[in-house]
Amino acid sequence: MSSGRLPFSQIVAGVLATCGLAAGAQTADQAWLDRRLHDSRFAWFPVQTLSQNTLEQTAAKELKLGILRMRGAATAGDVKATEDRIIIGTAGEVRKAYPSAKIPEHLSPDAYWIGTLRSHRGTEIVVAGGDERGALYGSFALLRLIAETNSVPKAPVHSHPAMPIRWVDEWDNPDGSIERGYAGRSIFFEGGKVRDDLTPVSEYARLLASVGINGCNINNVNAAPQLLDADHLKQLARIADAMRPWGVRMAMSVDIASPQKIGGLATFDPLDSAVKAWWTAKVNEIYTLIPDFAGFTVKADSEGQAGPSSYGRTPADAANLLAGALQPHGGVVLYRAFVYNHHLDWRDPKADRARAAYDIFHPLDGRFAANVVVQTKEGPIDFQAREPVSPLFAGLEHTSQAMEVQITQEYTGQQRHLVYLAPMWKQVLDFDLRADGRATPVKDIVAGKAFGQPLGGMVGVAGVGRDAWLGSPLALANLYAFGRLAWDPNLAPEHIAAEWTRQTMSSIPDVVETVVKMLMQSWPAYENYTGPLGMQTLTDITGSHYGPNIESSEQNGWGQWHRADKDGVGMDRTVATGTGYAGQYPPEVAKIYESASTTPDELLLFFHHVPYTYKLHSGKTVIQNIYDSHYEGAAQAAALVDEWDSLKGRIDGSLYEQMRDRLEYQAGHAIVWRDAIVQYFLKLSGIPDEKGRAGHYPGRLEAEDARLSGYKVTDVTPWEDASGGKAVTCDQAEQNSARHACSAEWTYSGAPGRFDIAVQYFDLQGGVAKFALEINGKLAASWAADAILPSRRPNGDNSTRHTVRGVSLKPGDILRIEGNPDGADPAALDYIEIRPAQ
Ligand code: GCU
Repeated sequence: MSSGRLPFSQIVAGVLATCGLAAGAQTADQAWLDRRLHDSRFAWFPVQTLSQNTLEQTAAKELKLGILRMRGAATAGDVKATEDRIIIGTAGEVRKAYPSAKIPEHLSPDAYWIGTLRSHRGTEIVVAGGDERGALYGSFALLRLIAETNSVPKAPVHSHPAMPIRWVDEWDNPDGSIERGYAGRSIFFEGGKVRDDLTPVSEYARLLASVGINGCNINNVNAAPQLLDADHLKQLARIADAMRPWGVRMAMSVDIASPQKIGGLATFDPLDSAVKAWWTAKVNEIYTLIPDFAGFTVKADSEGQAGPSSYGRTPADAANLLAGALQPHGGVVLYRAFVYNHHLDWRDPKADRARAAYDIFHPLDGRFAANVVVQTKEGPIDFQAREPVSPLFAGLEHTSQAMEVQITQEYTGQQRHLVYLAPMWKQVLDFDLRADGRATPVKDIVAGKAFGQPLGGMVGVAGVGRDAWLGSPLALANLYAFGRLAWDPNLAPEHIAAEWTRQTMSSIPDVVETVVKMLMQSWPAYENYTGPLGMQTLTDITGSHYGPNIESSEQNGWGQWHRADKDGVGMDRTVATGTGYAGQYPPEVAKIYESASTTPDELLLFFHHVPYTYKLHSGKTVIQNIYDSHYEGAAQAAALVDEWDSLKGRIDGSLYEQMRDRLEYQAGHAIVWRDAIVQYFLKLSGIPDEKGRAGHYPGRLEAEDARLSGYKVTDVTPWEDASGGKAVTCDQAEQNSARHACSAEWTYSGAPGRFDIAVQYFDLQGGVAKFALEINGKLAASWAADAILPSRRPNGDNSTRHTVRGVSLKPGDILRIEGNPDGADPAALDYIEIRPAQ
């Protein structure tokens, strides 16, 4: 994309148009479309479309609204009468109306060209689309450029999307819940039905269109078959209607067993003629209601979902069945390669879940219909904090492919942790798989370019909900970045972060610099404190996918193994001695991963089982790296709070407060992670930390060692989630009715001074326990355990830190924590930690 600048001072104003949205509603403005925050000082052009089609009308409306808002502080003096205008149309329409416009000859679908024409009448900025959708994208791009630079582009801008499929997948259920969603309930469904008010759906489509996303799958891949019945399809058509003005086509996930489950057939065998007839009729019914329906996404033979294997059929048989029904209407099938056996034998050293997608799909290459796209998760396991790139991308040369990434932060902190994922996605997109011994970066494969495939794209599992789209304001940078990378995978994550920050927060250079720095630090920090060296996220993989739980990955059939034992850690995936997974890559890449000495440190334990004393390229031993990275990660998380603090008073106050609470929580939870993993591996390996930190916690006073009143000592499971493996709980049932609170008391014996006192407690669901810290009987702080965190037992999911700052202490002072349980929350306490005040 090229752009020059025409100072806005040269631009004059036209007639104001209003285009308001209901106050208080969930709107796209809460994300990045409210550019009123900018102090841009400029006026605007009237906007004119060359046709009446819906998308051009939307584009005009957006430009008017956007410019009106950006105009913000423009003074009356900026405004003078003129005939200058913005013209919106398709390339064909523009060529006809403005034969002198130098529009590129081939403007592909969704692409746009923005140019300026000057005549005696004034200046005309022309937005020409390869089609109507392109005109809309060009209009959003023009707004972005104006917001970014406070000027309109002087030189022509020509941009086209790298890949045709740019979809978000929502995992919403008809009851209104969202699988792996962390931002409240569904914007689409409630109580088994499509919601009456679909305003948020239109607003979401608007948000998606603004970054070039052209498809939205609206229901869980673990699909509810009833959504295909006649009544639900009519309801779904309303969703499609709500998104259509923004060029976002609706797609849906289907259960391949639907002909049997809701169609009354005895079978769902993909090769059965009655099954084929059922799908053909069903698809025809869908297109009668939704003429621009985008297609189906399929999860089959995976995690309990029915699949073609029940009849000895292949994924190609199932995909082609649906593709055949969709083909006459222009629809596509996104068939997910997330197919694996979750009852693997963990005792078998050759068993390996990472192999599954390639083993199953590679032999089918070339057997998929032209409108089938195999949708593969970026890594071979499941959205972990670090995985190698899926080898399947290079294993399908005759099949269109899409890469699936997760915007909703399932394994990456569930939006309570700041983790900007664009750098991770970008590493995957840029990874050169060297298929056929030539440059084949993933971005070229999924664009259909590397192997000359007709389709291809990126799919982001978004999980937006009614709580401000993604719950956390900064998490929206991920949704924005997904759209931008799907449009142009060559954009740098820093560049995208800066773009987003300028549109949402401030254009003051050092504010932008700070926010970008925070975003860019966040993934490395998270990886460091949750599971470095390619061990995956060492979380509770059979439950919450949130807090630390190292052994949950082992001794079960799910195959997310890391194989830690007393002598070493890591999974041997080599061809020579392991599962052979490394051999699924093209030879040049396979060779790198086959040997520990050439495997990059960050993936070492994904490919190799090594002793704790194994020396990394960095020169450190594996065990020392485990200790160091966890301390470093927790320090990086703490630094995020300080960096954010430097923005106080410079960004919107409520945004500042909201994010500050989250970042402070994250810094505390990073310590929970650090301590869990460090004490686990210290115990398992028996090798001390050469820096003396592991197992030593200066200033820490354990609750189980305190003078307890009412509180009972309890073992925490897993043990590593509590300091010393124990906590105290205040079990209400054991309290008499007159005395509900419990207390833990310590006598301070250190040097006098000013301190920060961290109180580590467990914030359980099912009640809002209250805590108070008293010094010598005087209240120093009180707070409520009112966060909503996973798990109903005290563990690393809900271990939470509250820090009371600047407390003066002298030897002999009595510190007392009073815990007041509530409902099912027993005011459980782990420890207090007294550190010199910062
Ligand atoms: C993960 C996730 C599931 C989801 C699955 C999928 O395993 O935890 O909730 O259904 O991915 O992608 O199908």
